[in-house]
Amino acid sequence: MIKIAPSILAADVLNLERDVRKVADAGGDWLHVDIMDAHFVHNLAYSPEVVRRLKEISPVPLDVHLMMDQPGRYLDTFLDAGADILTIHTEIGGDISGMLEKIRRRGAKAGLALKPGTGLSAVMPYLEQTDLILTMTVEPGFGGQVLNEAVPGKIAELRAAGYRGEIEADGGVTEENLGRLIGKGLSVAVMGTAVYTAEDPKGLIRRLHGMGDGREGV
Ligand code: DX5
Ligand code: ZN
Repeated sequence: MIKIAPSILAADVLNLERDVRKVADAGGDWLHVDIMDAHFVHNLAYSPEVVRRLKEISPVPLDVHLMMDQPGRYLDTFLDAGADILTIHTEIGGDISGMLEKIRRRGAKAGLALKPGTGLSAVMPYLEQTDLILTMTVEPGFGGQVLNEAVPGKIAELRAAGYRGEIEADGGVTEENLGRLIGKGLSVAVMGTAVYTAEDPKGLIRRLHGMGDGREGV
């Protein structure tokens, strides 16, 4: 079954606890928490303290997406705060392998993200060290964008290369395009705008769960 990870970037920041419970009660499988440093992306979002408090109240795992230039300096901070899945961007360079290994060594799932314009070759050397590949379907930094149609092909290519871990799409995912992404091999869908603007989030997530899982053929 496809996992749905509502993104709190689309939540009401003045009512975070209410909005976390809303999507968890609606059937969200993970909670996607975007961390932005105003350097790697032109936006600033959330902090380790927010992650720590979310961990206290969230009934679902925290899927923390580090959109920051020097994540190596903050891995312990976010792992201590309670990140269950911790994802770094391949574009930052440096000791990707060491960072992925550290995330796993500390008991969390290791994710590696790539922007729409970054080729799969940037993640291929690390596949064995990841539990999740996050194929960004929009330019990172803001919610509410339109899905980049060049990305679904990357999902299919990853599966064709034999990748059996989670493949997560992030940005512009809707009820209308999710079926196509699952057909390419997607197993986790980050959905911020689509879930938080839905009249009936529970009904929406029930329909999305009914769409299957891109790992059926794996
Ligand atoms: C964008 C973020 C996404 C965003 C979700 O940089 O990484 O997680 O919040 O996008 P929408 O709102 O389009 O689902
Ligand atoms: Zn994200």
